[in-house]
Amino acid sequence: MKIALVGLGRTGRIVAEYLLEQDALAMVLCKPNSLSANSDLGELLNIKPTGIMLETTAHLEKKLFHKKPDVLIDFSSHHFLKENIHTLAKCGVNVVTAVTEYDRAEIEKFKALADKGNIGIVMAPNITYGVNVLMLMAEIAAEILGDYDFDVFEEHHKYKKDRPSGTAMKIANKIRNGLATQKEIPEHVVRAGGIVGKHKVSICGEFDKLEISHESFSRVAFAQGAYKAAQFIAGKTGFYEMSDIFDSERRQRRQHAVMHPKTIELEKEDPA
Ligand SMILES: NC(=O)c1ccc[n+]([C@@H]2O[C@H](COP(=O)([O-])OP(=O)(O)OC[C@H]3O[C@@H](n4cnc5c(N)ncnc54)[C@H](OP(=O)(O)O)[C@@H]3O)[C@@H](O)[C@H]2O)c1
Repeated sequence: MKIALVGLGRTGRIVAEYLLEQDALAMVLCKPNSLSANSDLGELLNIKPTGIMLETTAHLEKKLFHKKPDVLIDFSSHHFLKENIHTLAKCGVNVVTAVTEYDRAEIEKFKALADKGNIGIVMAPNITYGVNVLMLMAEIAAEILGDYDFDVFEEHHKYKKDRPSGTAMKIANKIRNGLATQKEIPEHVVRAGGIVGKHKVSICGEFDKLEISHESFSRVAFAQGAYKAAQFIAGKTGFYEMSDIFDSERRQRRQHAVMHPKTIELEKEDPA
């Protein structure tokens, strides 16, 4: 699978290194006015030359036809996809976008295009596996502990523009889904220093309290999630979220367990 990457900021650089290790990176894109345009990616990452030159997003269609990536991973800003979604669809390049700044209208536009079968998109404002498990657990807790008070806390570095984070809002939605009655779910935000990302759900009753938390302490966690999503979306059309990828993996694991019950029995008896 050949991957193009757009956005070489705090996160994109780590993603680029990770994709180089996977031997999956075919193309990197930067803004038309970027000072790094036409330099080797290795120079930007302070590693040996990679042979991959930074290309601007100008004349994107021609560049995509030439390099033919299967999937583009987007860690830039909401401007990129808004301006280039039709070009990507035309060139048959699917998208994993980790960008968190889209408004509802933008998301609806991308979804409509993907639902028509023109392109495959993974919309992933919450790209790590761990935080998706947290969401699942929060929804289950809301189903069972409906009379408890739920609060969502999130902490990120001081440069993060959106507040609360897309993930915090999604966690709150999951809790609302799980609850039988409507209830306010306060969201508490900290923007400080270099915090990579932390989300916590506090579930407080009269006599006891439960907390579920997730912390990313390396941006490699984002790179791993993005690569998984790229592997999933390659060759597909339609609109997906990270939870669809996990659900599909869980279904496959369950099917495997049903079809191979003896193997699992043996593994339990003899872990070696
Ligand atoms: N889903 C997740 O779990 C997750 C995790 C981490 C980050 N994110 C999201 O990923 C995005 C980037 O985060 P970051 O912290 O890495 O930000 P950042 O350090 O500001 O980096 C953004 C990069 O994208 C480039 N860029 C912006 N608009 C562009 C465009 N239209 N075309 C091409 N390149 C463009 C910027 O170029 P210039 O420097 O030249 O402006 C910069 O290199 C944010 O939306 C953030 O919330 C999501």
